[in-house]
Amino acid sequence: MTSREVRRLFLDFFAERGHRIIPSSPLVLPDDPTLLFANAGMNQFKDAFTGRRRPEAPRAASVQKCLRVSGKHNDLEQVGRTPRHHTFFEMLGNFSFGDYFKREAIGWAWELVAGRLGLPPDRLWVTVFGGSAAAPADEEAERLWREVAGLPPERILRLGEEDNFWRMGDTGPCGPSSEIHYDLGEDLASARGESTPATDERRYVEIWNLVFMQFDQRGDGRLEPLPAPCIDTGMGLERITAVLQGKRSNYDTDLFLPILEAASEVAGARYGERPEADVSLRVIADHARAVAFLVADGVVPANDKRGYVLRRILRRAILHGRKLGIRGSFLDRVVPAVVHGLGEVYPELVASRAAILEICRREEERFAATVSTGLDLLEEAIGKLAGPKVVPGGELFRLYDTFGLPLDLARDVAAERGVELDLEGFEEELAKQRERARASWKGGRGPAGEGGGRVVPTEFVGHRTLQVDGARVVAARAVGVGDEPPLPVTKGKEVAVHLDTTPFYAEAGGQVGDTGILIGRNFRGRVVDTVRGPLGIEHRVLVEEGELEVNQLVRAEVDRDRRDSIRRNHTATHLLHAALREIVGPHVKQAGSLVAPDRLRFDFSHFAGLADRTLADIEELVNEKILGDEPVLAEEMGLDDALRTGAVALFGEKYGDRVRVVSIGDFSRELCGGTHCERTGEIGLFKLVQERGVASGTRRVEAITGEGSLERFRQTAEIVRSLESLLAVPREDLVAEVERRLARLRALERQLQRERARSVKEALYERAESAQVIEGVKVLSGRADGLDPQETRELADALRRKLRSGVVILGRREGPKASLLVAVTEDLQGRVPAGELVRELAGIVGGGGGGKPDLAEAGGRDPSRLDEALEAALEAVARRVAASV
Ligand code: SER
Repeated sequence: MTSREVRRLFLDFFAERGHRIIPSSPLVLPDDPTLLFANAGMNQFKDAFTGRRRPEAPRAASVQKCLRVSGKHNDLEQVGRTPRHHTFFEMLGNFSFGDYFKREAIGWAWELVAGRLGLPPDRLWVTVFGGSAAAPADEEAERLWREVAGLPPERILRLGEEDNFWRMGDTGPCGPSSEIHYDLGEDLASARGESTPATDERRYVEIWNLVFMQFDQRGDGRLEPLPAPCIDTGMGLERITAVLQGKRSNYDTDLFLPILEAASEVAGARYGERPEADVSLRVIADHARAVAFLVADGVVPANDKRGYVLRRILRRAILHGRKLGIRGSFLDRVVPAVVHGLGEVYPELVASRAAILEICRREEERFAATVSTGLDLLEEAIGKLAGPKVVPGGELFRLYDTFGLPLDLARDVAAERGVELDLEGFEEELAKQRERARASWKGGRGPAGEGGGRVVPTEFVGHRTLQVDGARVVAARAVGVGDEPPLPVTKGKEVAVHLDTTPFYAEAGGQVGDTGILIGRNFRGRVVDTVRGPLGIEHRVLVEEGELEVNQLVRAEVDRDRRDSIRRNHTATHLLHAALREIVGPHVKQAGSLVAPDRLRFDFSHFAGLADRTLADIEELVNEKILGDEPVLAEEMGLDDALRTGAVALFGEKYGDRVRVVSIGDFSRELCGGTHCERTGEIGLFKLVQERGVASGTRRVEAITGEGSLERFRQTAEIVRSLESLLAVPREDLVAEVERRLARLRALERQLQRERARSVKEALYERAESAQVIEGVKVLSGRADGLDPQETRELADALRRKLRSGVVILGRREGPKASLLVAVTEDLQGRVPAGELVRELAGIVGGGGGGKPDLAEAGGRDPSRLDEALEAALEAVARRVAASV
């Protein structure tokens, strides 16, 4: 059976039993900063086990890419020296999320192994958990193995926590386990004593591990029961393939032989001839696989974290190449065998082939330069040794630390030259250096105190996850208390916290900072804002309970709903930007933006206001892209590459060498560090709510999305409903009804106006009958509010005629203004000229004017003093008449 057939058969077997087949996650898990690399099939389901996320299906099966080079599961040192340790391997697994448990898991495992795969039952052994301080012995599993598999008691071993309690890492789901072992043959038995899977690793190979997930291990070491017991099984593809192909070493299977052949060819050494050379060939074959998969999953060599692991693996492979006597670069001739063998199952290998080869070449060049210096210096040091032939630890450490000379290589050289290495001294130096590194990390009294002013590096993981369990507080200081000792702060106080890892987005690029909570042992705080402080990502935390200590672990959890709203508005902003450029023109440049949970605001350069038609077109185009549900992709790349692809960069913005490019199909491509939807469909409805000018040449639009649009839609519907009931017409008639009513209202107003004018006129006519007589002159003064200027003039004329001889003074309020009119009969024009009189009165209402002696008008700003002016008119007329006698 080929390895391909084994994969297929395994997945088919569990698909037939109602399992959803889930593809492998990448080696770098998108949602779990607690793991450097995937190390088991269950990793990608971690949150489904703990109940934090609903699983895609109650049962699942997968073939997972795994790498065990660090942390709890680290096989690096054994690789090549044993028949079945690897850095990279594939794990077959079936999983139950609170669905089936031990009986089914054990039953199916047996059916597959002893039935479908046809392994002879008398060669199979199992182990179960024998109990420890953490949990009792797993008697149930033991009983089930007897019942289901009919295994005799002597082939069921009880082992301790070390062997039969599985943990993912220092935190995460865990539980007792049960392993199936296969007996490769009596001839492999160790020389003396009893031979069982517990004592004889050479003879027995563990092929399948069934974990009965029951607990969640917390950061503080506590075991919390999971919401429901789950199943997690793992069977190494390389091991089961070896067993099925009748091989005693995984390296003798179809998974490795082609790679070993390629390596042997380059080295000019036949595999199986010299044990020491075989170790090196196996290391190269194993590491070539790890390198290919790491690069295909986006890891590049670097000096820390994942990039360092890749570099380390590459260097080990290169080193073993040298041991085989290979000169010059060679990995690029081995790795193609990996791509060839696994590319059909893992297309990412084919897609990244060129990158994998290029990285191998570059690292080999780099290694050659580094190692030759380190080696020369080591030779020199050895040459200088006098007395005891021991290379001092300090010297060794210097070569290791400064010149990157790998200790492995130093060991080999020392062995050849017949000298010893002071490894203890080396360890001491290493420990000292670790201590120095640790000290520089201590947050102590925060930025103002010990280690003050130092930038606190925080890994931002908020693009992939909204929750980090076990984030470490690396520095903290109280906010707004000057030089007071910063910690601890009490309830109700605000503290600025720096974490080593955070899902919280700090305000930048227009996107507001995240809010949420931090929970630790004896501590709970509300993150009210996240900002980019002078020292890095700063969580503004309102203490709700307990005290926060530097170095303590906390769970950092972002307010999910709020972040979702922000994401929608951010992706919508990119769509809006692209739509503006398409519809308004490519001269449109972003001049500022705000991405908040409740709205988005976008300022851009443009010379004029946008017509309603244009706004409607923009809105339509954006919504079209939303309905298209296009994927939103974020990629990291070099700035030059990004600009070459036409990504929109903001003028005047500073970018690093590596940038993040967010693209939505061919429609939008922008440099952006913000958080986005996975697909445009998540935005919901996009609605422009405002367009206006904010400065010359700069326009501002505001828009809403998602639940903001829904809320607005609801409000609008509510308004329409109220109007329907107020106007008693269905919605389709609302506009016509309002128009009809407005027309009627206008007609009524006009009629009212006419009525008012008539009654004003009538009243004044009436008063003309009995006009006041001052110094023998008839004077009629009064208000003519409600009349227009023409009507007023006509009225004045009529009144003048009615008086036959006299003076008419009319005052009118016209909105915020006052107007006055004076009409004088011909006989009196010399004594009381209208223009003169009106000018005098206008002064009282804050204005001016004038005119002819018979008729004159004036305006003023103060209508409240009209009556006063009319009163004063009498006196003014009297004065003039008296003067002219
Ligand atoms: N998680 C367990 C393991 O890795 C079973 O899948 O062995």
